[in-house]
Amino acid sequence: MSSASDFIPDGANIDRLRKAALECTGCPLYQDTTQTVFSKGPVNARVVFVGEQPGDVEDRKGEPFVGPAGQLLDRAVAEAGLNPAEIYTTNAVKHFKHKATTGGKRRIHATPDAGDVAACRPWLLAEFALLSPSVVVALGATAGRALFGPQFRVMRQRGVLMPWPATAHDPAAFGQVEEETAPSGAYALATLHPSAVLRADDRDSAYQGLVSDLRIAGSALIA
Ligand code: URA
Ligand code: SF4
Repeated sequence: MSSASDFIPDGANIDRLRKAALECTGCPLYQDTTQTVFSKGPVNARVVFVGEQPGDVEDRKGEPFVGPAGQLLDRAVAEAGLNPAEIYTTNAVKHFKHKATTGGKRRIHATPDAGDVAACRPWLLAEFALLSPSVVVALGATAGRALFGPQFRVMRQRGVLMPWPATAHDPAAFGQVEEETAPSGAYALATLHPSAVLRADDRDSAYQGLVSDLRIAGSALIA
């Protein structure tokens, strides 16, 4: 199976990684998109957000979380008292997976599957090899499964600080948060995806849930 690993330069810093990712054709998702959407924020950030994949707006602008979901997330971050300058934001999948509407005018989000996440994971691993977060926030089910393994159920396990494994940088161990405390002292937390808030029947309470989860993530910074 092809994957991103062929495109990742050895010993690259974050700028080189970002640049190399623009050339990635490690899976078919690059086809029919505008560009790779890599990450934003400082590599030494204490908080790392992992989303699902870029959306339509992100695909055109080349930056993660700058569309409607990103605006909602920005508001929730501010309300939770997190410092946006201290957050590194990336996605499990770096290209916009979509399908066309009948008529072909609009591009509709298509959820990346486990194969898409696996193909793109080398980029995520390369990022984590450079990052040193105090808390990693998985936004939604795709990110949750990418970070904690296929059994992870975000709605059951959200809002709880979990140990972030020091072994997360090891591709063989990646995909599972172990029950043992992580020697690194870092934490992980899952919450719902901001797009799920936008789609929720009760948007206010979904939004409040996101904010309170982010507050809990923030508490890891002073623990
Ligand atoms: N949703 C995501 O998961 N990531 C983005 O960058 C934008 C929307
Ligand atoms: Fe490469 Fe990931 Fe894009 Fe696939 S989705 S082409 S692996 S960057």
